[in-house]
Amino acid sequence: MKRKDIVPTQTERLMREGDFIVSKTDTKGIITYGNPIFIEFSGYTEEELIGSQHNIIRHPDMPRSAFKLAWDTIQSGKEFFAYVKNMSKDGSYYWVFTHITPDFDQSGRIVGYTSVRRCPKRSAIEALTPVYKLMLDAERAAGARDAIAAGTQVLVDILTQKGMSYEELVFAL
Ligand SMILES: Cc1cc2nc3c(=O)[nH]c(=O)nc-3n(C[C@H](O)[C@H](O)[C@H](O)COP(=O)(O)O)c2cc1C
Repeated sequence: MKRKDIVPTQTERLMREGDFIVSKTDTKGIITYGNPIFIEFSGYTEEELIGSQHNIIRHPDMPRSAFKLAWDTIQSGKEFFAYVKNMSKDGSYYWVFTHITPDFDQSGRIVGYTSVRRCPKRSAIEALTPVYKLMLDAERAAGARDAIAAGTQVLVDILTQKGMSYEELVFAL
């Protein structure tokens, strides 16, 4: 369950250089594992995290279309890189640079996903904050039904303008 009762604050938690936040989910995004640093940054207990949807730490500043792109990519068996703003249980926020990969069984079927997040570059956060805001504004203006298409279009327009793929943009930041 997303925590609608949590009020986002302007308090930021900063990842340290050597930190790795690791979590694993099933194919639906239900958390099956979190390392101690994930527990620390999320502000939840291990018991609260295991069995919850990963959107438990979703920050309202993040556009829905960003997660659509993530899911489309990992469900097709590919890895996904992104900068994500997350929200802790106390409403504070923390930015991460995430790498999500599918976990395969012996027959090549996707059985879950693993995410490893490390300390993001400040310059990347500064570059992406206005992009996510534009995507979110477009989503809100379009209304629920057309939100994902509208947010995605903003990203596609930016990528076209820069002549870059999504992954090229992420690594150029
Ligand atoms: C392995 C894995 C890690 C994820 N990590 C995050 C995360 O750190 N923050 C987040 O908001 N969503 C994360 N998600 C995506 C969430 O499952 C969800 O799609 C997203 O929060 C959007 O939620 P919503 O569809 O309820 O708006 C992750 C998904 C997977 C499979």
